[in-house]
Amino acid sequence: MSSEVLHVAREKLSRKTLEMHYAITSLMEELEAVDWYRQRADDTVDAELKAILLHNAREELEHAAMVLEWIRRNDAEAGAQIKEYLFREGSITGREEDAAEAHGL
Ligand SMILES: [Fe+2]
Repeated sequence: MSSEVLHVAREKLSRKTLEMHYAITSLMEELEAVDWYRQRADDTVDAELKAILLHNAREELEHAAMVLEWIRRNDAEAGAQIKEYLFREGSITGREEDAAEAHGL
């Protein structure tokens, strides 16, 4: 039994690809949940329900951050991109030009 969508027969996937699939799918679900909770919080007219929904959205962000950190630790290429772009000041797209320059591209 599986809830995830695989695009290739499971037996053809390496264990590493399968584990990464679980993490990526989980990250997508957590971020989707944040979006859904925030939309419902915007729409509800009940103040207490709004507070609960926003609380839940913050918890989903925590879950998303945990999964993203797991991806960073377990996928060197993803880790390199995260290191390149996260927690930087200035232009985000300008960062790509700076990175390309730094790597002699
Ligand atoms: Fe969650």
